[in-house]
Amino acid sequence: MAEDGLPVAGISARTGIPVSALSRYLPALEELGIVQREPDGTYRVTPLGRLLRRDTGSLHGQALMAGDEYYGAWQELDHCLLTGESAFHARHGSGLWEMAARKPDLAASFARTMRWNSARALSDILALYDFTAARLVVDLGAGDATLLCGVLARYPKARGLAVEQGSMSAHAAATVREAGLDQRCAVRTDDIRRAVPSGGDVYILKSVIHNWPDAAAVDILRTVRDAMPAGSQLLLVEKAHDSADPQAALRDLTMMVLFASQDRTPAEYHALLTRAGFTPSAPRLGSSGMCLIPATADNARCEPGDQPRPEGDSGGPEPAGRAPTTHRENEELE
Ligand SMILES: C[S@@+](CC[C@H](N)C(=O)[O-])C[C@H]1O[C@@H](n2cnc3c(N)ncnc32)[C@H](O)[C@@H]1O
Repeated sequence: MAEDGLPVAGISARTGIPVSALSRYLPALEELGIVQREPDGTYRVTPLGRLLRRDTGSLHGQALMAGDEYYGAWQELDHCLLTGESAFHARHGSGLWEMAARKPDLAASFARTMRWNSARALSDILALYDFTAARLVVDLGAGDATLLCGVLARYPKARGLAVEQGSMSAHAAATVREAGLDQRCAVRTDDIRRAVPSGGDVYILKSVIHNWPDAAAVDILRTVRDAMPAGSQLLLVEKAHDSADPQAALRDLTMMVLFASQDRTPAEYHALLTRAGFTPSAPRLGSSGMCLIPATADNARCEPGDQPRPEGDSGGPEPAGRAPTTHRENEELE
């Protein structure tokens, strides 16, 4: 729907929905605050309704997923509560990322949602961390690369590398192209549980770790730590769980339903980083509730391109199937 008022017949012509059905549907949408009826009988979209428009930078993708794959997952809430297993997996027989690999529409909806989330978090992250010294910023699980492009736009001397799994990397590449950053930013398709590129000065993990339960989260963090050259930093960026926030409990439960994971407090993220062998700094809190924790890999002994093995890694045996961390130079940019 256009923002200007449209008569019901005009909306019918655009949507193919009969006027008789619209004259019952639109009043219901008005009750929800999504459209507003004008005195002349036309309808306009409210600011709330505008968030559902298809444009990038909206909640359109989130709404599609909520009404379809996520909705199905919530129907398995009892299974999730009783077993601690992901309701999404119980309902659909695979995880969200595997399903996105099979369903391009789902991947596109997810990419749009990540664009919305990262665009909102960007100013907080830029206020919380100075990237001036970073020559190469590596964003792991970069989503559609909106955050990385925003950082590169602010720091024109920095280069970027977005690492994403197969269903999302094309969306990241599209964002990089749209931003005109092809010459400064590469996109690599990879599984960060198995391989993380070395050569970065700053590594970002934003809104990735909250998708994983503790053991898997620590495993990913160790893989990142193993790849990081001496002197580099990891920025762990997550929405801080705050029980005083009226949406905190629902957000946390959503992580349980979708991923069998959890939201965490800044102290809990700090502890995870320590468990994975990092030396984290004090958490920094942004005005939007984002928490950024810079961390150095205290076992890093290598220069970019070396093959580091952490000393004194007391974290137990390597998990089955975990490939040796790769320490490839950032060949895409060279
Ligand atoms: C919640 S999203 C966050 C995306 C982005 N960092 C942001 O904040 O907009 C988590 C991202 O992790 C990616 N991801 C999940 N598992 C991955 C894996 N094994 N390797 C690489 N990326 C992965 C997903 O594709 C998804 O884009």
